[in-house]
Amino acid sequence: MYCVKKVLDNIYWVGGNDRKTALFENMFPIPNGVSYNSYLILDEKTVLLDTVDHSISREFMENIEHLLGERNLDYIIVNHMEPDHCAIIGDIVLKYPEIQVVGNAKTFQMIEQFFPDIKFDRITVKEGDCLEIGKRKLNFYFSPMVHWPEAMVTFESVDGVLFSADAFGTFGALDGNLFADEYDFERVFLEDARRYYTNIVGKFGKPVQSLLSKASNLDIKCICPLHGPVWRENIGYFVDKYNKWSSYEAEEKGVMIAYASMYGNTENVANALAFMLSEKGIKNIKVYDVSTTHISQLVADTFKYSHIVLASPTYNAGIYPIMENYIRDIKALNVQNKTVAIVDNGTWANTAGKQMIKEISEMKNMNIIEKGFSILSSVNKDRENELNEFVDEIVKSFE
Ligand code: FEO
Repeated sequence: MYCVKKVLDNIYWVGGNDRKTALFENMFPIPNGVSYNSYLILDEKTVLLDTVDHSISREFMENIEHLLGERNLDYIIVNHMEPDHCAIIGDIVLKYPEIQVVGNAKTFQMIEQFFPDIKFDRITVKEGDCLEIGKRKLNFYFSPMVHWPEAMVTFESVDGVLFSADAFGTFGALDGNLFADEYDFERVFLEDARRYYTNIVGKFGKPVQSLLSKASNLDIKCICPLHGPVWRENIGYFVDKYNKWSSYEAEEKGVMIAYASMYGNTENVANALAFMLSEKGIKNIKVYDVSTTHISQLVADTFKYSHIVLASPTYNAGIYPIMENYIRDIKALNVQNKTVAIVDNGTWANTAGKQMIKEISEMKNMNIIEKGFSILSSVNKDRENELNEFVDEIVKSFE
């Protein structure tokens, strides 16, 4: 059975939902599923914008056949070549052999790598090029590294529709409604949107800023991303989130405490710290055990909060490996502009703190609170004053 949704007159969503895949990119949990969006424009010419993941190919082909009826498919525009969007290009070209594939030079390089055996007619576009399809015109703007080098967006200027590829996407399947304004977006999607952006596009803040700057010159009334709901109202709300995430500006003043603990002693200090911070007036606090929290959640909240406390035991004369992996990941993702406090633990030869400071100080614009807190195996009330002073330093850094 087909399952399509009208975006605007003669523009349709023809994508689908995936609630079976456990890990997106075989790495990121998607307990709420994910949608793979594709769009079909029926003008004097018929135009498909991107395809979908192979897991939903059957319903995708049915959607297109239903809307096209007896018509042929004239163009497929390839905004992004990651296989969750390009997997069905081969099937489309086989079914509609007269189709013209529209992409940029890098797109075609990648199509040849992913689909070495298919033959097709192509239109190679450059920045700003226009494709007239009848009443509507489509312009192409390159958005390299959002999230691959070939990525581009397509702007339909009659109704002001931006087909934004991965930009403005989110994890989370579409439960019947297509538009963001039909959901309580903050409740249903925001956590997933942050986790999607920060983990997948997070490293590429500058390219996202360039795309936002290009987009600010377009009269955009509707954003059609490749994942998650379509935006037709309150677009500024989501653009503001993208602006904050891509400029590595914290969304909220607050403290995320990420601790690693083998036998509960570092955990005990992390919990005490959280309660002491609260006593001293900090209300926005989130505590995570790095061993039991998926790294994608840690990454998302690292982007979200202004202050991070890292608490780790020493392990093999270094940082506890799971904590080390998390720190390396936020470094790779270009996390910046945080205030960081360090807690370490060692029963002998405690070195984790020094090494965490070294890693963090190699990141951009990180304010490391000078006074750290070292645990010698465990902490009892004899060190309450010292812990209080450490908490005071964190609180002071909010001023
Ligand atoms: Fe949803 Fe970069 O692909």
